[in-house]
Amino acid sequence: MFDATLYQEVTESFIKTHTKFIVNSFKNVLEWKSEGKEEILDVGCGEGSTTIHILEKMVMENTKNYNILGIDLMDAMIDLAKKSFPNRENIQFKQADILDVNAWVGYKEHFHKVLSILCFMIVPNPKVWIKNIYNVLKPNGQIFFMLCLTNAMVKQQLYLSKQKKWETYQKKNAMCSEFFINENSTDWIIRHLEEGGFKHLIYNEIVFDTPLKNKEASYKFTKAFTLLNETIPEELKEEYLNELCENIEKEYSKNKEYSKISYLIISGRK
Ligand SMILES: C[S@@+](CC[C@H](N)C(=O)[O-])C[C@H]1O[C@@H](n2cnc3c(N)ncnc32)[C@H](O)[C@@H]1O
Repeated sequence: MFDATLYQEVTESFIKTHTKFIVNSFKNVLEWKSEGKEEILDVGCGEGSTTIHILEKMVMENTKNYNILGIDLMDAMIDLAKKSFPNRENIQFKQADILDVNAWVGYKEHFHKVLSILCFMIVPNPKVWIKNIYNVLKPNGQIFFMLCLTNAMVKQQLYLSKQKKWETYQKKNAMCSEFFINENSTDWIIRHLEEGGFKHLIYNEIVFDTPLKNKEASYKFTKAFTLLNETIPEELKEEYLNELCENIEKEYSKNKEYSKISYLIISGRK
Protein backbone atom coordinates (compact mmCIF):
# COMPACT_ATOMS: atom_id res chain seq x y z
CA MET A 1 0.00 0.00 0.00
CA PHE A 2 2.75 2.44 1.03
CA ASP A 3 6.53 2.33 1.25
CA ALA A 4 6.65 3.28 4.94
CA THR A 5 10.20 4.73 4.98
CA LEU A 6 9.73 6.68 1.76
CA TYR A 7 6.30 7.86 2.92
CA GLN A 8 7.90 9.28 6.08
CA GLU A 9 10.50 11.09 3.94
CA VAL A 10 8.39 12.51 1.10
CA THR A 11 5.41 13.63 3.17
CA GLU A 12 7.76 15.93 5.14
CA SER A 13 8.07 18.09 1.98
CA PHE A 14 4.50 19.42 2.15
CA ILE A 15 1.83 17.02 3.51
CA LYS A 16 3.01 17.24 7.12
CA THR A 17 3.22 21.06 6.93
CA HIS A 18 -0.34 21.19 5.61
CA THR A 19 -1.51 18.78 8.32
CA LYS A 20 0.12 20.88 11.04
CA PHE A 21 -1.54 24.04 9.72
CA ILE A 22 -4.94 22.35 9.47
CA VAL A 23 -4.82 20.77 12.93
CA ASN A 24 -3.77 24.11 14.43
CA SER A 25 -6.49 25.99 12.55
CA PHE A 26 -9.33 23.63 13.44
CA LYS A 27 -8.29 22.26 16.84
CA ASN A 28 -10.79 24.50 18.66
CA VAL A 29 -13.66 22.29 17.45
CA LEU A 30 -12.48 19.73 20.01
CA GLU A 31 -13.60 20.08 23.62
CA TRP A 32 -11.54 18.71 26.51
CA LYS A 33 -12.56 17.17 29.79
CA SER A 34 -11.43 18.99 32.88
CA GLU A 35 -11.09 15.76 34.87
CA GLY A 36 -10.08 12.16 34.18
CA LYS A 37 -8.03 10.62 31.40
CA GLU A 38 -8.74 11.40 27.72
CA GLU A 39 -8.72 8.16 25.71
CA ILE A 40 -7.88 8.94 22.07
CA LEU A 41 -7.77 6.72 18.97
CA ASP A 42 -5.73 7.71 15.89
CA VAL A 43 -6.97 5.63 12.92
CA GLY A 44 -4.44 5.04 10.12
CA CYS A 45 -1.56 6.53 12.12
CA GLY A 46 0.98 5.53 9.45
CA GLU A 47 4.65 5.78 10.54
CA GLY A 48 3.67 7.77 13.61
CA SER A 49 5.14 11.20 12.90
CA THR A 50 1.73 12.90 12.56
CA THR A 51 0.60 11.22 15.79
CA ILE A 52 3.66 12.37 17.72
CA HIS A 53 4.61 15.73 16.19
CA ILE A 54 1.14 17.09 15.42
CA LEU A 55 -1.68 15.25 17.23
CA GLU A 56 0.03 14.59 20.56
CA LYS A 57 1.31 18.18 20.61
CA MET A 58 -2.24 19.44 20.15
CA VAL A 59 -3.55 17.08 22.86
CA MET A 60 -0.84 18.22 25.32
CA GLU A 61 -1.91 21.85 24.91
CA ASN A 62 -5.24 20.79 26.41
CA THR A 63 -4.54 18.03 28.91
CA LYS A 64 -1.65 16.24 30.58
CA ASN A 65 -3.84 13.22 31.32
CA TYR A 66 -4.28 11.30 28.08
CA ASN A 67 -3.66 8.07 26.27
CA ILE A 68 -3.35 7.77 22.49
CA LEU A 69 -3.74 4.47 20.63
CA GLY A 70 -2.37 4.75 17.08
CA ILE A 71 -3.50 1.95 14.80
CA ASP A 72 -2.62 1.11 11.23
CA LEU A 73 -3.39 -1.73 8.82
CA MET A 74 0.23 -2.04 7.69
CA ASP A 75 2.79 -3.87 9.84
CA ALA A 76 5.57 -1.87 8.15
CA MET A 77 4.01 1.44 9.24
CA ILE A 78 3.58 0.26 12.84
CA ASP A 79 7.12 -1.19 12.95
CA LEU A 80 8.53 2.13 11.75
CA ALA A 81 6.39 4.09 14.23
CA LYS A 82 7.63 1.92 17.11
CA LYS A 83 11.24 2.24 15.91
CA SER A 84 11.07 5.99 15.35
CA PHE A 85 9.22 6.78 18.59
CA PRO A 86 10.11 4.13 21.20
CA ASN A 87 9.01 4.14 24.84
CA ARG A 88 6.33 6.81 24.69
CA GLU A 89 4.57 6.91 27.98
CA ASN A 90 1.13 7.92 26.70
CA ILE A 91 1.14 6.42 23.20
CA GLN A 92 0.82 2.85 21.92
CA PHE A 93 1.16 1.88 18.27
CA LYS A 94 -0.67 -1.27 17.20
CA GLN A 95 -1.39 -3.08 13.94
CA ALA A 96 -5.17 -3.24 13.45
CA ASP A 97 -7.77 -2.92 10.72
CA ILE A 98 -10.54 -0.40 11.30
CA LEU A 99 -12.77 -2.62 9.13
CA ASP A 100 -12.30 -5.66 11.36
CA VAL A 101 -15.41 -5.78 13.58
CA ASN A 102 -13.87 -8.39 15.93
CA ALA A 103 -10.78 -6.25 16.61
CA TRP A 104 -12.95 -3.54 18.16
CA VAL A 105 -15.32 -5.58 20.34
CA GLY A 106 -13.19 -4.98 23.46
CA TYR A 107 -13.16 -1.20 22.92
CA LYS A 108 -16.92 -0.56 23.11
CA GLU A 109 -17.52 3.08 24.19
CA HIS A 110 -13.85 3.34 25.21
CA PHE A 111 -12.62 6.50 23.45
CA HIS A 112 -13.44 10.15 24.10
CA LYS A 113 -12.05 11.13 20.70
CA VAL A 114 -11.33 9.43 17.37
CA LEU A 115 -8.86 11.32 15.18
CA SER A 116 -7.85 10.28 11.68
CA ILE A 117 -5.51 12.02 9.26
CA LEU A 118 -5.59 11.19 5.53
CA CYS A 119 -6.87 7.65 5.88
CA PHE A 120 -10.54 7.23 4.97
CA MET A 121 -10.22 8.12 1.27
CA ILE A 122 -8.74 4.69 0.61
CA VAL A 123 -10.71 2.59 3.11
CA PRO A 124 -13.60 0.77 1.42
CA ASN A 125 -16.91 -0.11 3.09
CA PRO A 126 -17.65 3.26 4.75
CA LYS A 127 -20.66 1.77 6.56
CA VAL A 128 -18.32 -0.67 8.38
CA TRP A 129 -15.61 1.77 9.49
CA ILE A 130 -18.20 4.38 10.47
CA LYS A 131 -20.05 1.76 12.54
CA ASN A 132 -16.83 0.58 14.22
CA ILE A 133 -15.83 4.14 15.10
CA TYR A 134 -19.32 4.92 16.38
CA ASN A 135 -19.23 1.85 18.61
CA VAL A 136 -15.82 2.57 20.15
CA LEU A 137 -16.71 6.19 20.96
CA LYS A 138 -18.21 7.14 24.31
CA PRO A 139 -21.64 8.81 24.19
CA ASN A 140 -21.08 12.43 23.08
CA GLY A 141 -17.53 11.47 22.02
CA GLN A 142 -15.93 13.48 19.21
CA ILE A 143 -14.49 12.75 15.76
CA PHE A 144 -11.91 14.84 13.90
CA PHE A 145 -11.02 13.66 10.40
CA MET A 146 -8.80 15.19 7.74
CA LEU A 147 -9.21 13.77 4.23
CA CYS A 148 -7.71 14.64 0.86
CA LEU A 149 -10.37 15.55 -1.71
CA THR A 150 -8.04 15.69 -4.68
CA ASN A 151 -4.50 16.41 -5.89
CA ALA A 152 -2.50 15.95 -9.11
CA MET A 153 -1.64 12.33 -8.28
CA VAL A 154 -5.26 11.40 -7.55
CA LYS A 155 -6.50 13.18 -10.71
CA GLN A 156 -4.03 11.27 -12.87
CA GLN A 157 -4.81 7.99 -11.14
CA LEU A 158 -8.50 8.43 -11.94
CA TYR A 159 -7.74 9.56 -15.50
CA LEU A 160 -5.40 6.64 -16.27
CA SER A 161 -7.75 4.13 -14.67
CA LYS A 162 -10.25 4.95 -17.42
CA GLN A 163 -7.74 4.52 -20.26
CA LYS A 164 -8.01 1.32 -22.26
CA LYS A 165 -4.46 0.21 -21.47
CA TRP A 166 -4.90 0.39 -17.69
CA GLU A 167 -8.60 0.11 -16.89
CA THR A 168 -8.78 -3.65 -16.45
CA TYR A 169 -5.98 -3.56 -13.86
CA GLN A 170 -7.23 -0.54 -11.97
CA LYS A 171 -10.85 -1.59 -11.40
CA LYS A 172 -10.07 -2.83 -7.90
CA ASN A 173 -7.42 -0.27 -7.02
CA ALA A 174 -7.82 1.35 -3.59
CA MET A 175 -6.92 4.78 -5.01
CA CYS A 176 -9.89 4.55 -7.38
CA SER A 177 -12.14 4.44 -4.33
CA GLU A 178 -15.80 5.37 -4.10
CA PHE A 179 -14.71 8.47 -2.18
CA PHE A 180 -12.41 9.71 -4.93
CA ILE A 181 -14.66 8.85 -7.89
CA ASN A 182 -17.69 10.47 -6.34
CA GLU A 183 -18.96 13.66 -8.04
CA ASN A 184 -19.25 15.30 -4.64
CA SER A 185 -17.05 13.45 -2.15
CA THR A 186 -17.89 15.87 0.68
CA ASP A 187 -21.67 15.32 0.42
CA TRP A 188 -21.10 11.58 0.04
CA ILE A 189 -19.02 11.16 3.20
CA ILE A 190 -21.17 13.54 5.28
CA ARG A 191 -24.30 11.61 4.26
CA HIS A 192 -22.65 8.34 5.34
CA LEU A 193 -21.60 9.83 8.70
CA GLU A 194 -25.12 11.16 9.31
CA GLU A 195 -26.63 7.79 8.40
CA GLY A 196 -24.13 6.19 10.81
CA GLY A 197 -25.56 8.29 13.65
CA PHE A 198 -23.01 11.13 13.95
CA LYS A 199 -24.38 14.55 14.90
CA HIS A 200 -23.26 18.19 14.89
CA LEU A 201 -21.13 17.59 11.81
CA ILE A 202 -19.05 20.58 10.78
CA TYR A 203 -16.91 20.49 7.66
CA ASN A 204 -14.52 22.76 5.78
CA GLU A 205 -12.48 22.51 2.63
CA ILE A 206 -9.03 24.04 2.32
CA VAL A 207 -6.65 24.28 -0.66
CA PHE A 208 -2.82 24.50 -0.77
CA ASP A 209 -0.22 24.38 -3.50
CA THR A 210 2.22 21.43 -3.82
CA PRO A 211 5.54 20.73 -5.56
CA LEU A 212 3.74 18.22 -7.84
CA LYS A 213 4.52 20.30 -10.92
CA ASN A 214 7.09 18.31 -12.86
CA LYS A 215 7.92 14.69 -13.53
CA GLU A 216 10.90 14.49 -11.19
CA ALA A 217 9.16 15.85 -8.08
CA SER A 218 6.03 13.83 -8.82
CA TYR A 219 7.99 10.62 -9.34
CA LYS A 220 9.80 10.91 -6.00
CA PHE A 221 6.51 11.57 -4.22
CA THR A 222 4.36 8.95 -5.94
CA LYS A 223 6.99 6.21 -5.40
CA ALA A 224 5.95 6.19 -1.73
CA PHE A 225 2.33 5.46 -2.68
CA THR A 226 2.84 1.88 -3.83
CA LEU A 227 -0.94 1.39 -3.93
CA LEU A 228 -1.04 3.49 -7.13
CA ASN A 229 0.21 0.62 -9.26
CA GLU A 230 -0.11 -2.42 -6.98
CA THR A 231 -2.91 -3.91 -9.12
CA ILE A 232 -0.78 -3.60 -12.28
CA PRO A 233 1.44 -6.48 -13.50
CA GLU A 234 5.02 -6.25 -12.25
CA GLU A 235 6.52 -5.62 -15.70
CA LEU A 236 4.22 -2.62 -16.34
CA LYS A 237 4.41 -0.93 -12.93
CA GLU A 238 7.27 1.42 -13.85
CA GLU A 239 5.68 2.39 -17.18
CA TYR A 240 2.45 3.26 -15.34
CA LEU A 241 4.19 5.49 -12.80
CA ASN A 242 6.22 7.24 -15.51
CA GLU A 243 3.10 7.95 -17.55
CA LEU A 244 1.30 9.27 -14.47
CA CYS A 245 4.18 11.63 -13.60
CA GLU A 246 4.72 12.81 -17.20
CA ASN A 247 1.02 13.62 -17.41
CA ILE A 248 1.21 15.69 -14.22
CA GLU A 249 3.97 17.79 -15.81
CA LYS A 250 1.97 18.21 -19.04
CA GLU A 251 -1.22 19.20 -17.24
CA TYR A 252 0.62 21.66 -15.01
CA SER A 253 2.20 23.37 -18.04
CA LYS A 254 -1.34 23.99 -19.37
CA ASN A 255 -2.95 24.91 -16.05
CA LYS A 256 -1.06 26.11 -12.97
CA GLU A 257 -3.98 25.11 -10.74
CA TYR A 258 -3.20 21.46 -11.45
CA SER A 259 -0.61 21.22 -8.66
CA LYS A 260 -3.14 22.24 -5.98
CA ILE A 261 -4.25 19.85 -3.24
CA SER A 262 -7.58 20.20 -1.46
CA TYR A 263 -8.44 18.79 1.93
CA LEU A 264 -11.68 18.15 3.78
CA ILE A 265 -11.81 18.60 7.55
CA ILE A 266 -14.75 17.05 9.42
CA SER A 267 -15.67 17.16 13.08
CA GLY A 268 -18.74 15.81 14.85
CA ARG A 269 -20.14 13.97 17.83
CA LYS A 270 -21.69 10.62 18.64
C1 LIG B 1 -1.94 8.38 3.71
S1 LIG B 1 -1.54 7.40 5.09
C2 LIG B 1 -1.73 8.56 6.42
C3 LIG B 1 -0.83 8.22 7.58
C4 LIG B 1 -0.77 9.24 8.72
N1 LIG B 1 -2.07 9.42 9.37
C5 LIG B 1 -0.23 10.56 8.28
O1 LIG B 1 -0.82 11.59 8.63
O2 LIG B 1 0.80 10.58 7.60
C6 LIG B 1 -2.97 6.36 5.29
C7 LIG B 1 -2.77 5.26 6.29
O3 LIG B 1 -4.01 4.57 6.50
C8 LIG B 1 -3.72 3.21 6.70
N2 LIG B 1 -4.92 2.38 6.46
C9 LIG B 1 -5.50 2.10 5.28
N3 LIG B 1 -6.55 1.28 5.45
C10 LIG B 1 -6.65 1.05 6.79
C11 LIG B 1 -7.52 0.26 7.59
N4 LIG B 1 -8.49 -0.46 7.04
N5 LIG B 1 -7.33 0.25 8.95
C12 LIG B 1 -6.32 0.95 9.50
N6 LIG B 1 -5.45 1.71 8.78
C13 LIG B 1 -5.61 1.76 7.45
C14 LIG B 1 -2.60 2.94 5.70
O4 LIG B 1 -1.87 1.76 5.98
C15 LIG B 1 -1.78 4.21 5.83
O5 LIG B 1 -0.73 4.08 6.75
